[in-house]
This record gives sequence, structure tokens and C-alpha cells, in this order.
Amino acid sequence: MKNITVIGVGYVGLVTGACLADLGNRVVCLDINAERIAKLKQGIMPIYEPGLEEVVRRNVAAGRLFFTTDYAEAINAPEAKAEMVFIAVGTPEGVDGEADLRYVRAAAECIAETMDHPLIIINKSTVPVGTGDWVADIVRSRQPKPIPFSVVSNPEFLREGVAISDFMNPDRIVLGSLDVEAAQQVAQLYLALRAPIMITDLRTAEMIKYASNAFLATKISFINEIANICEALGADVKEVAAGMGYDKRIGRAFLDAGIGYGGSCFPKDVKALAHMANIQGKHPQLLEAVMQINADARRSIVAKVRNLVGNPNGALNRLEGKVVGVLGLAFKPNTDDIRESPGIDVIRMLQADGAAIRAYDPVAMENAARVLSNVTLCQDAYETARGCDALVLATEWNEFKHLDLPRLRQLMRQPVIVDGRNIYEPAVMRQHGFTYRGVGRGY
Ligand SMILES: NC(=O)c1ccc[n+]([C@@H]2O[C@H](COP(=O)([O-])OP(=O)(O)OC[C@H]3O[C@@H](n4cnc5c(N)ncnc54)[C@H](O)[C@@H]3O)[C@@H](O)[C@H]2O)c1
Repeated sequence: MKNITVIGVGYVGLVTGACLADLGNRVVCLDINAERIAKLKQGIMPIYEPGLEEVVRRNVAAGRLFFTTDYAEAINAPEAKAEMVFIAVGTPEGVDGEADLRYVRAAAECIAETMDHPLIIINKSTVPVGTGDWVADIVRSRQPKPIPFSVVSNPEFLREGVAISDFMNPDRIVLGSLDVEAAQQVAQLYLALRAPIMITDLRTAEMIKYASNAFLATKISFINEIANICEALGADVKEVAAGMGYDKRIGRAFLDAGIGYGGSCFPKDVKALAHMANIQGKHPQLLEAVMQINADARRSIVAKVRNLVGNPNGALNRLEGKVVGVLGLAFKPNTDDIRESPGIDVIRMLQADGAAIRAYDPVAMENAARVLSNVTLCQDAYETARGCDALVLATEWNEFKHLDLPRLRQLMRQPVIVDGRNIYEPAVMRQHGFTYRGVGRGY
């Protein structure tokens, strides 16, 4: 049993804190967002993540999981001085694609100014290569008096929507540090998970995270490029991906052609890696192509709507007078996270073309309402479809996989569906009287 502090109660920090408590540790989760902490103290989750509430409730009840906004309470509590502090704050996209490290800096400064005993500081946030050394410099320079500490990089690979299961059943644990003994102590936390544990140096651990995300984004852009070619040549990318996926050297995962990747990780991490390369005088040409193909994947959904229901070529606002429904506002199913959501991006492009938008998402409506304007938010898929000239499927939520097609068709002004997730089969949709376009399905 260790005494642990986790800084940041977002998708990664809260899951990490709750799961480490579930593994038997005493965990204090800290956030500067007082509203989030107040909610957690009342048992209300600040984010939607399946299974999270139960793990939090169980560990709070067992006296292993605590929430605070106070650094001293989180790190120096006399009854339970923290041995390890995880930094799990956001590292959003900054200027020119560079990762914005202001929250990491603030957390490191607060740790330095607060700690009254030796600590292992563990970076769980995705941070540019070299950040571990930078954090060590900040802590050293901000400590009122020198107290020993070590910095360990422990990048997180969980996926939103299945975060608890990913945390508890990881493919690997990566730990990087100049202080191997500190890394080994952190490794002890994960022994029960029976995953391979790799201990390496700080910079290599930081790079493993970026390289992994960039590779997965590359797979998505690769299959989207193939989809584009399939459309021109009359092949079906879904079958192509299935055929490729049987090859163990390739694997089926991340070969789903569609509207492109989004979310709080892939877009910013690919950009940040390209930025790191550029400032070192390297030319990240593959990463540049991955990002361009991804942007095109979104544009191509809008182009399909335009081509199917738009006003004649040459009209300034191609979708003026048209109503388009968008199903799915979260960047992927089983989360309320709308950061870099393809559905939201597509809505903005459709609006720029003059379309009136109706939209629905099972859990991300509240978050979406904060960033969208002039969108009619609906109760369900059917209300969304009412009076629409086209319906765009942007997120593959389960409830969009078995829609009542005759009912949908009857509700729409024009039975046109653009399926950004290849949920439906073109032949079936034709039988139901829809004009249907998936991605790379070869019509
Ligand atoms: N979301 C994912 O699926 C995922 C997966 C793997 C890695 N990551 C990485 O993990 C990190 C966190 O991502 P997230 O999605 O959990 O972020 P998030 O935005 O959901 O949460 C970050 C939290 O940190 C808090 N915070 C900011 N500054 C603080 C400070 N100085 N002290 C205390 N709290 C502070 C914020 O209030 C917020 O609650 C990022 O680097 C991200 O790239 C995310």
C-alpha cells in the first residue's frame, strides 16, 4: 500500500486515482477546479466514463480515495504523507502545434513549493520529449529548501469509453527515469496487473507515447487514403480492411475508414510530434501527410452532402435552405468528450455552407451546447432526422447501429444518408430507398 497523490481529475487523472485506490493504495486526487472536486465529494462524476462512478464510490466508501483542492493536504497530510505524486493535467495544443505545458509547469511549481519530504514525481500527462528533465529543473529551482525527489515518466495509454478496463488490463506499462530505483518503486504499483513492464530512460519513455499515438493515427489515415482510392475504383474498403487485417503483421485494429480521427489525443499528439521534429530541423513528412489526410476525411463528408443535396454548382452557399441532421457529437462512442470531434467540425463546415443543423448525441449534448451555436439539439435520432435533406452519421454509438430505417426515411425531407463511420451496408440502405454514401465503399 502506497500513499499517492494524483494531480488533475480529468479523464486520465480520475481513472488513475480511482484504479490505484482499487489496487489497495491510499489516493488523494487534487484539482484546481473547485467545482469538479465539490462534485466528486458529493459522488457526482465530472466526466462520463462507463464504470467509473462505481469504482470511485467503492473506494471512497473504503476510505482509500479522497478529493481536495489543497496541495498541502494532498501531499503533506501528517497521517499519510504522499510517497508518489502523479501529474495528470491537460497538455492541450498550443501555438504552432506545440504542446502547451502551462498546466504541467503550474503543477510542478506547486509540488515544489509544497513538498516537505522526499517524493517520486511521476508524469502521466503526454508531454514532449525532454519535459521530465524540465520538470526536474522547475522543482529544483522552486523548492524553498532542497529536498530529494526523482522524476519518472509513466505515459498513459488508456482509451476513453473503456478507460477502467484499459487501466486494469494494459498491454504494457512504460516507465522512464534516470533513477532506476524510483522507476522500480513505481513498477511495484502495477505488479498486480500482470502486464509487461518496460523500464527505460525518461526521454525514450516520453517518445514511446508519441510514437504509439502517431502510429495509430497513421493507420487511420492510411486506410482513409485507401478508402479514397477504393471509391474511385469501385472496391469496398471494409472488405479490404478485413482482408488486410487477417495478416498478423498488419492487424485489423485502427483500419476503419471514415470521418477521421479526433479527440483529445491523436490530433494534438501528432501535431506536437511534428513540431518537435521541425524544431530539430527534421522533416516529418509522413506525419504531415497523416494530418492532411485526416483533415480531408472530414471535408469529404461535407463534400458528399454538398454533392447529394446541394444547390447547383456555382451557388455561393451550396447548402442554403437545406437542413442537415448530425448524429454523434462526441469524438467517439461511450464518452462525452467533444475535443476535436469530427462531428462538431463537420457541423461548422456545413453551417459555413448555409445549412441549418439539427443534432443529437446520447451523452455529449451538454458539452456540445457550450461550443455550438445555431444548432437545433434534438432528443434522439428520429427527432433529428425530422425534415432533414440529409443525415450525417458522425459517431458510431450503438444506438445508431440499429435505427428503424423505414421510420427514419418517412421523417426525412430527402432520404439521404452520409455515413462517416460505415455503420450501414450500401445495398441494404438502397433497398430501404435511401441515397446512401459511406466512406470507400465503391458504389
Ligand atoms: N483523455 C485520454 O484519453 C488520454 C489518454 C492518454 C493520455 N492522455 C493525456 O493525459 C493528460 C490528461 O488528459 P485528460 O484528458 O485527462 O485531461 P482533462 O482536461 O480531462 O483533465 C485535466 C485536469 O487537470 C486539471 N488541472 C489543470 N491544471 C492543474 C493544476 N495546476 N493542478 C491541479 N489540477 C490541474 C484540470 O482542471 C482538469 O480537471 C494529457 O496530457 C493527455 O494527453 C489522455
